[in-house]
Amino acid sequence: MNLLALETTCDETAAAVITDRLEVRASVVASQDELHRRFGGVVPEIASRAHLERILPVIHEALEKAGLSLGEVDAVAVANTPGLAGSLLVGLAAAKALCVARDIPLVAVNHLQAHIYACRLAAVGQEVFPCVGLIVSGGHTSLYRCLGPLDFTPLGATIDDAAGEAFDKVASMLGLPYPGGPAIAAAAAGGNPRAHLLPRSFFQDDQRLDFSFSGLKTAVRYTIAGPGRLDFTRLELSPQQVADLAASFQEAVVDTLVDKAFAALRRTGLRTLCVGGGVAANVRLRGRLEEEARRRGVQLHVAPPRLCTDNAVMGAIALERLKAGLVEKLDLEVYPGVVRAT
Ligand code: KG4
Ligand code: ZN
Repeated sequence: MNLLALETTCDETAAAVITDRLEVRASVVASQDELHRRFGGVVPEIASRAHLERILPVIHEALEKAGLSLGEVDAVAVANTPGLAGSLLVGLAAAKALCVARDIPLVAVNHLQAHIYACRLAAVGQEVFPCVGLIVSGGHTSLYRCLGPLDFTPLGATIDDAAGEAFDKVASMLGLPYPGGPAIAAAAAGGNPRAHLLPRSFFQDDQRLDFSFSGLKTAVRYTIAGPGRLDFTRLELSPQQVADLAASFQEAVVDTLVDKAFAALRRTGLRTLCVGGGVAANVRLRGRLEEEARRRGVQLHVAPPRLCTDNAVMGAIALERLKAGLVEKLDLEVYPGVVRAT
């Protein structure tokens, strides 16, 4: 069977065609980076309008690449939680219209579960569940106990900024382009990660599996502007200063993410770690996770870079829901928020 999966939770408009044997027949991602760049972050209203313009061409392109007509699609999957309300609505409306027109099943996708499922798609022939799931993206930084692809219990999450959001905001302070993650990673390659000692919130505190990045962001600001000063708009940083700040910031984020992921493994007694989301594309983070996993004998699965940032291929998780008989009615809604640990 052919599943058409749609993804419009944030600022990528994506469609993919996947078979029930997990063969990816097409994957199309229309990035909106250039629309949001001059604002240094995603502007929700611009994102939803861009989804509206792009969703049909993206679906057409995916079907064309897969060599299929609409009549050969057997089910439609769409991410309906969490994300930006206006963005989610565009994908959901498109999915519902296709299901009504073709009288085929509509399947809901949880975007965070899908980010972890990307690890399973890449781990051919290996079982990744049960595992600790770490999702690090522009909107989320969360840890879950994942007993199966659809069985997630929250363990902790950021109490303020997401890791990717911190990358984006610090990049803007350093005069680097949006999205900040790849720009900071590139600048950091020429910098000294020990040039500035920046804060690591809740570090080595196994009682808390939460994250906080707003203090780190403020510390970068004071490092640039000088103690007690917030305005640095007229300060010129040399390329080496930018590189050192980028490397020191990246190291602080990576230290925190690695520390909490392994604290979650200790807390749960699980021996497998799956990591997904845009920030999981970060080379330094991947390297440090691999090192730590080897040292502690933990099975590590990090999504391949093309499946870290938002895409519709990870919507293949919908096949698990279909198998479990979880099909939606046409009054399905969007749920922008995240369910947190209590
Ligand atoms: O998963 P994603 O595409 O969208 C959300 O669901 O939020 O993640 C986008 C985020 C952005 O904040 C971007 O700066 C970050 O992922 N990112 C990275 C890297 N590539 C993308 N952060 C650090 N290093 C990277 N190489
Ligand atoms: Zn995402």
